Amino acid sequence: MTLHTAGPTADFPQDDEITYRRARTEDAERTYEIVQEAQGALDRRQGRESHPALPAERIIRFRHFCVRYDGDRFWVAEAGGRMVAAAYATLRDDAWYLDALHVLPEYQSRKIGSELIRRCLAGTGPSTALTVLTAASNPVSNGLYLRFGMLPQDSTLSFDGPIGERTAVPGQDAPPLTGRPIDLERDQATLAAFDLATVAFARPTDHEFWTGVPGLHHRILERDGSARGYAYVSSAGAIGPIAVARPEDLVPALDLAADIAAEAGAQVLHIRNFGSARAAVDWSTRRGLRLSDIGLMLSSRPVGQFGGYVTSGADALY
Ligand SMILES: CC(C)(COP(=O)(O)OP(=O)(O)OC[C@H]1O[C@@H](n2cnc3c(N)ncnc32)[C@H](O)[C@@H]1OP(=O)(O)O)[C@@H](O)C(=O)NCCC(=O)NCCS
Repeated sequence: MTLHTAGPTADFPQDDEITYRRARTEDAERTYEIVQEAQGALDRRQGRESHPALPAERIIRFRHFCVRYDGDRFWVAEAGGRMVAAAYATLRDDAWYLDALHVLPEYQSRKIGSELIRRCLAGTGPSTALTVLTAASNPVSNGLYLRFGMLPQDSTLSFDGPIGERTAVPGQDAPPLTGRPIDLERDQATLAAFDLATVAFARPTDHEFWTGVPGLHHRILERDGSARGYAYVSSAGAIGPIAVARPEDLVPALDLAADIAAEAGAQVLHIRNFGSARAAVDWSTRRGLRLSDIGLMLSSRPVGQFGGYVTSGADALY
């Protein structure tokens, strides 16, 4: 089986000139179509079931935020006036993250992906940590990122399944946490502290994004009157991000997130854990969820401590 991508075909002549420009707000929907076409073709080539579609409203809203806050890092490629590829990256403090990179199958292997990455690197310097999450089974994207100096740092394990029941391990799990809604203004320093302890950068614009997503519940996690972390969970059961200062607090944080999802009517749960967040992987398995995807986190230098972190559940951020 060859995993290499299709080259240009007779329908799309090689001398088709490719032009590049920054994305605009009105490009959001088309760039998402490109994600679905490129990802769908990859899934078919690999004989996999299609990836479940992400919630379109959340995805489009995120692209609008990228145009607003990361406009120099959101690029599209066009051929004959038609958009054929798109990529965007976010820069928070000195950490750069490639959120998405997709080239229509008939335009792959023509260096469009490489050129889009170069353009998305706007604003980075020699000290910037370059990061990306990839599908472990895709040698094309991983090989491309290796060339940009991004090497494996961690794994990701996605789990899906019916919402299930709490399963406690007596004597092992930390005491329960309570939650109250995040107040962006009042909690800014608290959120930054948990972000610096986990992902290693502050991200006020990302919290502005998440707290405004319809159906996404947000909580500051507390025990004995003091903040222990934060958590987001959607009414559809997509958990994350969650950040806690002490990894042992992940289990009570996840129990609370699952309770909130159940109260909101969710029938299923979805979670993407870092491999180093062992408590979250263990919790996902004990909950009866099934492993649905294995990925890699690549970075140009080690960055972050993910033992107390769960990635964002249903958008391109981590
Ligand atoms: C990944 C993707 C964006 C690459 O775009 P592209 O325009 O085809 O990429 P380029 O032509 O710039 O570069 C392809 C490069 O991949 C790398 N590559 C491909 N297969 C490789 C392998 N087996 N080992 C090492 N490197 C490999 C090489 O660097 C290759 O360059 P080369 O042609 O000089 O060998 C595109 O294939 C795509 O959209 N795939 C489906 C969606 C996807 O996987 N997106 C990434 C999400 S993380």
